[in-house]
Amino acid sequence: MDALEAIMTTRAIRRFTGEPVSDDDVWTCLRAAQQAPSGGNVQPTRYLVVTDPEVREEVGKLYRSAFTRYTEIAPARTDTVGLRIGRSANHLADTVASVPVIVFFLMPRTPSLVEGIDIGPVHASVYPAVQNFCLAARALGLGTTLTTVIRVHQAEALELLGVPAQWEIAAMVPLGHPAEKFSVAKRREVSKLTSFNRWS
Ligand SMILES: Cc1cc2nc3c(=O)[nH]c(=O)nc-3n(C[C@H](O)[C@H](O)[C@H](O)COP(=O)(O)O)c2cc1C
Repeated sequence: MDALEAIMTTRAIRRFTGEPVSDDDVWTCLRAAQQAPSGGNVQPTRYLVVTDPEVREEVGKLYRSAFTRYTEIAPARTDTVGLRIGRSANHLADTVASVPVIVFFLMPRTPSLVEGIDIGPVHASVYPAVQNFCLAARALGLGTTLTTVIRVHQAEALELLGVPAQWEIAAMVPLGHPAEKFSVAKRREVSKLTSFNRWS
């Protein structure tokens, strides 16, 4: 698939068929993730791939609870797009345990990759890997959504997965065969958000 087509049609897929994902495809996505840039090429990301149905079940419970907590606190959106996202995100929260693969992207709990100087947050060296993973999945015809709401129950999730205390969750990405169509998402017009040479 053409790279630009993959980029333009990679969007949040939250409905999955339940069909298994091959190990080869998972490794292709992980290799693409690991190929992403990181500050000083430190490569801080760790990947925790959950496929065991019992662990997915437990992750699903935490995710459902985290999402419910989020909806209780976040202001409810009543516009058409907001309602669509809400329905879709709620569906994922109800069904995430049935998605065949759930990947946790872990990052070190440190304010900076180089102590004593701000050369950018650690996140900046992790999310490129997450997006590469999602793009590779798209190229393989697989769906993903970058999610972070599990952080509401981060301590419980890390304990469940046996992750040592020096790591935190950057993202949790369900991976599966999509039960919805890929399409180019509507976005704000980039020319209205861009200035050249000086802010305007
Ligand atoms: C930092 C970040 C956190 C997100 N967290 C969640 C989440 O916890 N749950 C969820 O269902 N979607 C989550 N999303 C997905 C967004 O809702 C989605 O990317 C956005 O609505 C655009 O979707 P579209 O590409 O299909 O238009 C997150 C996206 C980002 C970038």
